[in-house]
Amino acid sequence: MSFMRKIFITGGAGFIGSAFVRLLLAELPDCELTNFDALTYAGNPDNLEELHNERHHFIQGDIADSREVLGALEEGTDVLVNFAAESHVDRSIASAKEFIRTNVLGTQVLLDCARQRGVRRFIQISTDEVMGSLPEDSTAYFVEDSPFAPNSPYAASKAAAEHLVRAAHHTFGLDTVITRCGNNYGPRQFPEKFLPLALSNAMNDQPIPVYGDGRNVRDWIYVDDHCRAILLAMENGRSGGTYNIGARNEQQNIDVVHSLLDTLGKPRSLLSFVQDRPGHDRRYAMDPTLIETELNWRPRETWESGLQKTIHWYQENGRWLERTRSGAYQDYYRQQYGAEIQAT
Ligand code: NAD
Ligand code: TYD
Repeated sequence: MSFMRKIFITGGAGFIGSAFVRLLLAELPDCELTNFDALTYAGNPDNLEELHNERHHFIQGDIADSREVLGALEEGTDVLVNFAAESHVDRSIASAKEFIRTNVLGTQVLLDCARQRGVRRFIQISTDEVMGSLPEDSTAYFVEDSPFAPNSPYAASKAAAEHLVRAAHHTFGLDTVITRCGNNYGPRQFPEKFLPLALSNAMNDQPIPVYGDGRNVRDWIYVDDHCRAILLAMENGRSGGTYNIGARNEQQNIDVVHSLLDTLGKPRSLLSFVQDRPGHDRRYAMDPTLIETELNWRPRETWESGLQKTIHWYQENGRWLERTRSGAYQDYYRQQYGAEIQAT
């Protein structure tokens, strides 16, 4: 039996948070979950659709509002896992304000409320992007004590959040663990992110916008593998510790697109180079040795099996995709990509 029984998750209606909710309900039969989410454009009640479980309680609220957090966070909570964030680099380039409010202020509000309510452990979900960009064609990897060098407003806001978590541990003795992961893919990822955007455009025979020369490298991991790593860190991670999570799966963006198009049987001519992202990080690559050795974590999916599962899910869930790609998404898409690369 896990000693983590009463669990407070923020951002649990998003892509990774909702996968984590599913994992906990399956793996910890005695846990009680509060899922606290503001339901921004990225938070999607459809992601929780079939989770009618008496152990899962959804509360709509904003992590930057301490009154709302304190209203939902009960004494006796064993662990708070903070997934809630503004999470898309391109949006942070267009406007950083919400990123600072949610990712920085929101994290501090959660830390303060956690202390006030006597929460036993605080898990911060972070990203490889706080460590900036690695040179390509090198054997350099991000390790836990690589220096911070965030290059986008998103990455800077997540780095600031990590600093606040570290400070709460050091100054107030709060039991904290930080997990940092590379690029996730899998079911229910909002199609502003590269992989589901490429996949859904390909499925609709629409051009796939690839920034710059398409040779940027990302270290891809299937979302459930990430969630299992978080669960291990939550239960057994060292207090004050940081764990890098990655599946040793570096891929250039053009290769990601080719894999998708080839698997779907669509022409490679759908790949369309567009103007590069300002400040575009060249390469991310995690060294996961610490979590492998200390917590005995291993990914279960290969790139091939993870992609198959992901493609299958999107093919089977046309309604989910249709709903996420309607309304405000079309406005965002036009603004980001112009009339040239339509998504209809
Ligand atoms: P997402 O954008 O899909 O979901 C974010 C969720 O947070 C949404 O449900 C949204 O409604 C909620 N939210 C946003 N602002 C809020 C606020 N002020 N109060 C309460 N809820 C709010 O993001 P994701 O891809 O699932 O990422 C989850 C976490 O993992 C983030 O912290 C992100 O930085 C981190 N992360 C993501 C990746 C990735 O590849 N997606 C990789 C590493 C780390
Ligand atoms: P993204 O999913 O935005 O994640 P991140 O920037 O946080 O790694 O992008 C993944 C990679 O794909 C990144 O190198 C940028 C690139 N990309 C494109 O080439 N075209 C696109 O339309 C998007 C959204 C991203």
